[in-house]
Amino acid sequence: QIDHLTSLKTATIAALSNTSVCMRDPQGVQEILHGMQKAGLDTIQVISDFDMTLTRFAHNGKRCPTSHNILDNSQLISDECKAKLKDLLDTYYPIEIDSSKTIEEKLPLMVEWWTKAHALIVQQKIRKDQLALAVQESDAMLRDGYQRFFDCLHRHGVPLLIFSAGLGDILEEVIRQAAVFHPNVKVFSNYMDFDKTGVMTAFKGELIHIYNKREGALLNTGHFQDLRTRPNVVLLGDSLGDLTMADGVQDVESILKIGFLNDKVDERKQSYLNSYDIVLIKDETMDVPNGILDFLV
Ligand code: TMP
Ligand code: MG
Repeated sequence: QIDHLTSLKTATIAALSNTSVCMRDPQGVQEILHGMQKAGLDTIQVISDFDMTLTRFAHNGKRCPTSHNILDNSQLISDECKAKLKDLLDTYYPIEIDSSKTIEEKLPLMVEWWTKAHALIVQQKIRKDQLALAVQESDAMLRDGYQRFFDCLHRHGVPLLIFSAGLGDILEEVIRQAAVFHPNVKVFSNYMDFDKTGVMTAFKGELIHIYNKREGALLNTGHFQDLRTRPNVVLLGDSLGDLTMADGVQDVESILKIGFLNDKVDERKQSYLNSYDIVLIKDETMDVPNGILDFLV
């Protein structure tokens, strides 16, 4: 009887049968989902990474830009600086996705990447009023189905925290131009500081890089305090550093971790399966998150 009921309910999340879906423990996923459905949508919050999680990794075989890349490729950056940022990307991105190195080994190198890139960006005298045009002219692309995802969370009053090691000013502009920057969306990220004339002078606050999202979350406990009636978390990420984004949530009841595995799939699949409940392999859509939301509403 129970098996029968379970399989009936499983069928209601058709997207979990997509060929891109891999799960270490499908039964465990079902249990989390049924628990969340029973607890109700008003006990749920969504915490998501931005770059390569809410945005596409590739489109028609061409890489899509991260929030950093949007700025790097824009007219706001000199050719000389573009070349230096490109060298940094070519040096450090392979390290980011190297499965033979531990997070502990990668951490100082990632801090080095972010520190060097941000020092170069700060020298560029970027004008605040030109960021919107840079985003407009970029190849930034949210994943297919993004509109349904953002609109569904908004309609049902589910808070969405976007927790990004990218550039906050740029990513906000991406979701604003896509008309999905709804009032239920809150962003933790690296924000630029501008002088009175609107020229960038520095980055504000503590640097968020790919492996300190836990510290970032713990610095922002006030936000999570406001959400303490929502102990069930749906977490979306594309890096193993994204797994700690929910560490600021107190008295968590359950977390469903959904990970997009975009690159170096064979080498990284096992570690993703070990840490994410649902792994989406080279899936450029929001179909699975949307299918899950449909099940929960
Ligand atoms: P995320 O946490 O929002 O995904 O942002 C981190 C991504 O930003 C990570 O995949 C690496 C990328 N990145 C760049 O593309 N260029 C840069 O200069 C830096 C520092 C990071
Ligand atoms: Mg990411």
